[in-house]
Amino acid sequence: MSQPIADAFLEGTKYQNLGPSDQQRGVEQPPVHSVLRSGQRVALPRPNSFDLGDMTIRKAIEIRRSLRTFADTPLNLEELSYLLWCTQGVKPESTEKFTLRTVPSAGARHAFETVLLINRVDGLKPGLYQFDAAVHGLIQWDSPADVTQQVMAACLDQQTIVHSAVTFIWVAERERMAWRYGERGVRYLFLDAGHVCQNLHLAAESIAAGACAIGAYNDDVLNSLLALDGTDRWVVYLAGVGKR
Ligand SMILES: Cc1cc2nc3c(=O)[nH]c(=O)nc-3n(C[C@H](O)[C@H](O)[C@H](O)COP(=O)(O)O)c2cc1C
Repeated sequence: MSQPIADAFLEGTKYQNLGPSDQQRGVEQPPVHSVLRSGQRVALPRPNSFDLGDMTIRKAIEIRRSLRTFADTPLNLEELSYLLWCTQGVKPESTEKFTLRTVPSAGARHAFETVLLINRVDGLKPGLYQFDAAVHGLIQWDSPADVTQQVMAACLDQQTIVHSAVTFIWVAERERMAWRYGERGVRYLFLDAGHVCQNLHLAAESIAAGACAIGAYNDDVLNSLLALDGTDRWVVYLAGVGKR
Protein backbone atom coordinates (compact mmCIF):
# COMPACT_ATOMS: atom_id res chain seq x y z
CA MET A 1 0.00 0.00 0.00
CA SER A 2 1.39 3.36 -0.99
CA GLN A 3 0.25 6.51 0.76
CA PRO A 4 2.77 9.11 -0.31
CA ILE A 5 1.96 11.79 2.28
CA ALA A 6 1.63 9.37 5.20
CA ASP A 7 4.71 7.42 4.06
CA ALA A 8 6.78 10.62 3.88
CA PHE A 9 5.62 11.59 7.38
CA LEU A 10 6.42 8.19 8.89
CA GLU A 11 9.81 8.04 7.17
CA GLY A 12 10.75 11.64 7.90
CA THR A 13 9.89 11.36 11.57
CA LYS A 14 12.03 8.28 12.24
CA TYR A 15 14.68 9.14 14.84
CA GLN A 16 17.53 8.51 12.40
CA ASN A 17 16.06 11.02 9.94
CA LEU A 18 15.63 13.90 12.36
CA GLY A 19 18.01 16.80 12.79
CA PRO A 20 18.76 18.26 16.22
CA SER A 21 15.73 19.58 18.09
CA ASP A 22 15.47 23.12 19.43
CA GLN A 23 16.28 21.78 22.88
CA GLN A 24 19.45 20.14 21.55
CA ARG A 25 20.41 23.40 19.83
CA GLY A 26 20.07 25.30 23.10
CA VAL A 27 16.90 27.22 22.19
CA GLU A 28 14.99 28.43 25.24
CA GLN A 29 12.03 26.27 26.24
CA PRO A 30 8.57 27.66 25.40
CA PRO A 31 6.19 28.32 28.32
CA VAL A 32 4.27 25.35 29.74
CA HIS A 33 0.92 27.19 29.55
CA SER A 34 -0.55 29.62 27.02
CA VAL A 35 -3.48 31.96 27.32
CA LEU A 36 -4.83 31.87 23.77
CA ARG A 37 -7.11 34.87 24.13
CA SER A 38 -7.81 37.21 27.01
CA GLY A 39 -11.22 37.46 28.64
CA GLN A 40 -13.10 37.51 31.89
CA ARG A 41 -11.86 35.05 34.49
CA VAL A 42 -14.35 32.52 35.88
CA ALA A 43 -13.44 30.51 38.97
CA LEU A 44 -14.05 26.76 39.08
CA PRO A 45 -14.57 24.62 42.18
CA ARG A 46 -11.20 23.18 43.25
CA PRO A 47 -10.91 19.50 42.31
CA ASN A 48 -10.17 18.55 45.94
CA SER A 49 -13.29 20.38 47.17
CA PHE A 50 -15.80 17.83 45.86
CA ASP A 51 -16.27 14.13 45.79
CA LEU A 52 -17.22 12.95 42.30
CA GLY A 53 -16.45 9.93 40.19
CA ASP A 54 -16.06 7.12 42.68
CA MET A 55 -17.16 4.46 40.15
CA THR A 56 -14.60 1.68 39.83
CA ILE A 57 -12.31 1.93 36.81
CA ARG A 58 -13.45 -1.56 35.83
CA LYS A 59 -17.09 -0.45 35.74
CA ALA A 60 -16.33 2.74 33.81
CA ILE A 61 -14.41 0.77 31.18
CA GLU A 62 -17.13 -1.85 31.00
CA ILE A 63 -20.04 0.57 30.41
CA ARG A 64 -18.26 3.13 28.22
CA ARG A 65 -19.90 3.76 24.86
CA SER A 66 -19.83 6.75 22.57
CA LEU A 67 -22.85 8.93 23.35
CA ARG A 68 -24.04 11.35 20.67
CA THR A 69 -27.34 12.55 22.12
CA PHE A 70 -27.77 13.64 25.70
CA ALA A 71 -30.34 14.45 28.36
CA ASP A 72 -31.42 18.11 28.66
CA THR A 73 -29.97 18.16 32.17
CA PRO A 74 -27.06 20.59 32.34
CA LEU A 75 -23.69 19.74 33.83
CA ASN A 76 -22.95 21.59 37.02
CA LEU A 77 -19.72 23.47 37.69
CA GLU A 78 -18.31 20.73 39.89
CA GLU A 79 -18.85 18.18 37.14
CA LEU A 80 -17.18 20.44 34.59
CA SER A 81 -14.29 21.08 36.94
CA TYR A 82 -13.96 17.33 37.50
CA LEU A 83 -13.89 16.59 33.75
CA LEU A 84 -11.24 19.27 33.21
CA TRP A 85 -9.18 17.92 36.08
CA CYS A 86 -9.42 14.37 34.69
CA THR A 87 -8.31 15.49 31.23
CA GLN A 88 -5.68 18.19 31.87
CA GLY A 89 -5.51 18.73 35.64
CA VAL A 90 -2.11 19.94 36.83
CA LYS A 91 -0.52 18.13 39.76
CA PRO A 92 1.14 19.99 42.66
CA GLU A 93 4.61 18.61 41.91
CA SER A 94 4.70 20.65 38.66
CA THR A 95 7.28 23.42 38.20
CA GLU A 96 7.74 26.38 35.85
CA LYS A 97 9.73 24.10 33.53
CA PHE A 98 7.32 21.19 33.29
CA THR A 99 3.89 20.11 34.42
CA LEU A 100 2.72 16.73 35.57
CA ARG A 101 -0.94 16.14 34.95
CA THR A 102 -3.67 13.53 35.32
CA VAL A 103 -2.77 12.20 31.84
CA PRO A 104 0.61 11.06 30.54
CA SER A 105 2.42 13.08 27.87
CA ALA A 106 5.58 12.45 25.86
CA GLY A 107 8.43 14.08 27.77
CA ALA A 108 5.81 15.75 30.02
CA ARG A 109 5.43 18.37 27.27
CA HIS A 110 1.62 18.58 27.74
CA ALA A 111 1.32 20.65 24.58
CA PHE A 112 -2.44 21.23 24.63
CA GLU A 113 -4.77 24.00 25.58
CA THR A 114 -8.43 23.12 26.14
CA VAL A 115 -11.15 25.27 24.61
CA LEU A 116 -14.74 24.62 25.71
CA LEU A 117 -17.88 25.23 23.74
CA ILE A 118 -20.46 25.54 26.51
CA ASN A 119 -24.12 24.88 25.71
CA ARG A 120 -25.56 23.80 29.08
CA VAL A 121 -23.50 24.24 32.22
CA ASP A 122 -25.18 25.68 35.33
CA GLY A 123 -23.93 29.19 36.02
CA LEU A 124 -22.08 29.67 32.72
CA LYS A 125 -23.22 31.73 29.79
CA PRO A 126 -23.15 29.63 26.59
CA GLY A 127 -20.16 30.29 24.33
CA LEU A 128 -16.44 29.68 24.12
CA TYR A 129 -14.09 29.48 27.09
CA GLN A 130 -10.48 28.48 27.56
CA PHE A 131 -9.50 26.29 30.47
CA ASP A 132 -6.50 27.85 32.20
CA ALA A 133 -4.87 24.74 33.64
CA ALA A 134 -2.28 26.81 35.52
CA VAL A 135 -4.95 28.10 37.90
CA HIS A 136 -7.69 25.56 37.20
CA GLY A 137 -10.08 28.29 36.06
CA LEU A 138 -11.84 29.45 32.92
CA ILE A 139 -11.34 32.42 30.64
CA GLN A 140 -14.54 33.51 28.94
CA TRP A 141 -14.11 34.51 25.31
CA ASP A 142 -16.28 36.83 23.27
CA SER A 143 -18.08 34.54 20.86
CA PRO A 144 -20.76 35.05 18.23
CA ALA A 145 -24.36 34.16 19.21
CA ASP A 146 -24.38 31.32 16.68
CA VAL A 147 -21.02 29.87 17.71
CA THR A 148 -22.50 26.41 18.38
CA GLN A 149 -23.91 26.33 14.86
CA GLN A 150 -20.56 27.44 13.47
CA VAL A 151 -18.64 24.75 15.35
CA MET A 152 -21.19 22.18 14.23
CA ALA A 153 -20.78 23.27 10.60
CA ALA A 154 -16.99 23.03 10.98
CA CYS A 155 -17.51 19.49 12.30
CA LEU A 156 -19.23 18.46 9.10
CA ASP A 157 -22.69 19.13 10.57
CA GLN A 158 -22.35 16.60 13.38
CA GLN A 159 -25.36 17.07 15.66
CA THR A 160 -23.36 15.97 18.71
CA ILE A 161 -22.08 19.55 18.89
CA VAL A 162 -25.56 21.01 19.42
CA HIS A 163 -26.77 18.19 21.66
CA SER A 164 -23.78 18.22 23.99
CA ALA A 165 -23.72 20.14 27.26
CA VAL A 166 -20.12 21.02 26.47
CA THR A 167 -17.71 20.23 23.66
CA PHE A 168 -14.06 19.89 24.56
CA ILE A 169 -11.80 21.23 21.80
CA TRP A 170 -8.14 20.37 22.26
CA VAL A 171 -5.69 22.77 20.66
CA ALA A 172 -2.16 21.53 19.95
CA GLU A 173 0.74 23.91 20.44
CA ARG A 174 3.37 22.54 18.13
CA GLU A 175 6.48 24.23 19.52
CA ARG A 176 5.84 23.03 23.08
CA MET A 177 6.27 19.48 21.80
CA ALA A 178 8.67 20.15 18.89
CA TRP A 179 11.14 21.94 21.19
CA ARG A 180 12.19 18.52 22.46
CA TYR A 181 11.22 16.13 19.68
CA GLY A 182 11.37 18.14 16.44
CA GLU A 183 9.04 16.87 13.73
CA ARG A 184 8.60 13.55 15.55
CA GLY A 185 6.68 15.57 18.10
CA VAL A 186 3.66 15.66 15.80
CA ARG A 187 3.31 11.91 16.33
CA TYR A 188 3.30 12.49 20.06
CA LEU A 189 0.65 15.21 19.84
CA PHE A 190 -1.75 12.73 18.27
CA LEU A 191 -0.85 10.02 20.78
CA ASP A 192 -1.22 12.39 23.72
CA ALA A 193 -4.63 13.53 22.50
CA GLY A 194 -5.88 9.94 22.67
CA HIS A 195 -4.97 9.69 26.34
CA VAL A 196 -6.78 12.91 27.12
CA CYS A 197 -9.96 11.89 25.33
CA GLN A 198 -9.97 8.44 26.91
CA ASN A 199 -9.82 10.02 30.36
CA LEU A 200 -12.76 12.20 29.35
CA HIS A 201 -14.72 9.12 28.28
CA LEU A 202 -14.11 7.27 31.52
CA ALA A 203 -14.61 10.31 33.74
CA ALA A 204 -17.89 11.09 31.98
CA GLU A 205 -19.16 7.56 32.60
CA SER A 206 -18.41 7.97 36.29
CA ILE A 207 -20.79 10.95 36.60
CA ALA A 208 -23.73 9.48 34.65
CA ALA A 209 -22.64 11.32 31.52
CA GLY A 210 -21.14 10.18 28.24
CA ALA A 211 -18.84 11.47 25.53
CA CYS A 212 -18.22 11.11 21.84
CA ALA A 213 -14.84 11.74 20.27
CA ILE A 214 -14.85 13.86 17.13
CA GLY A 215 -12.07 13.56 14.59
CA ALA A 216 -14.08 14.53 11.52
CA TYR A 217 -13.88 18.28 11.07
CA ASN A 218 -12.74 20.89 8.59
CA ASP A 219 -9.36 21.98 9.99
CA ASP A 220 -9.21 25.34 8.27
CA VAL A 221 -12.76 26.38 9.18
CA LEU A 222 -12.44 25.34 12.81
CA ASN A 223 -8.97 26.85 13.27
CA SER A 224 -10.10 30.10 11.76
CA LEU A 225 -13.22 30.18 13.97
CA LEU A 226 -10.95 29.89 17.02
CA ALA A 227 -8.38 32.35 15.58
CA LEU A 228 -5.68 29.66 15.47
CA ASP A 229 -3.08 29.95 12.73
CA GLY A 230 -3.31 26.25 11.80
CA THR A 231 0.48 25.83 11.87
CA ASP A 232 1.79 26.66 15.33
CA ARG A 233 -1.61 26.08 16.90
CA TRP A 234 -4.36 23.87 15.57
CA VAL A 235 -7.30 21.80 16.72
CA VAL A 236 -6.15 18.22 17.19
CA TYR A 237 -9.33 16.57 18.55
CA LEU A 238 -12.76 17.29 20.01
CA ALA A 239 -15.33 15.49 22.13
CA GLY A 240 -18.92 16.28 23.02
CA VAL A 241 -20.10 15.50 26.56
CA GLY A 242 -23.47 15.50 28.27
CA LYS A 243 -25.60 13.74 30.84
CA ARG A 244 -27.17 10.42 29.95
C1 LIG B 1 -9.97 9.11 16.65
C2 LIG B 1 -11.47 9.00 16.71
C3 LIG B 1 -12.26 9.85 15.96
C4 LIG B 1 -13.65 9.75 16.02
N1 LIG B 1 -14.40 10.65 15.33
C5 LIG B 1 -15.74 10.59 15.41
C6 LIG B 1 -16.53 11.56 14.77
O1 LIG B 1 -16.05 12.49 14.12
N2 LIG B 1 -17.87 11.45 14.89
C7 LIG B 1 -18.47 10.44 15.62
O2 LIG B 1 -19.69 10.42 15.68
N3 LIG B 1 -17.74 9.52 16.26
C8 LIG B 1 -16.39 9.57 16.19
N4 LIG B 1 -15.62 8.68 16.89
C9 LIG B 1 -16.28 7.63 17.73
C10 LIG B 1 -16.23 6.26 17.06
O3 LIG B 1 -17.09 6.23 15.96
C11 LIG B 1 -16.63 5.18 18.10
O4 LIG B 1 -15.65 5.15 19.12
C12 LIG B 1 -16.74 3.82 17.45
O5 LIG B 1 -17.83 3.74 16.56
C13 LIG B 1 -16.89 2.70 18.48
O6 LIG B 1 -18.05 2.89 19.31
P1 LIG B 1 -17.94 3.00 20.90
O7 LIG B 1 -17.04 4.18 21.21
O8 LIG B 1 -19.34 3.21 21.40
O9 LIG B 1 -17.34 1.75 21.41
C14 LIG B 1 -14.25 8.76 16.84
C15 LIG B 1 -13.45 7.93 17.63
C16 LIG B 1 -12.08 8.06 17.58
C17 LIG B 1 -11.25 7.17 18.50
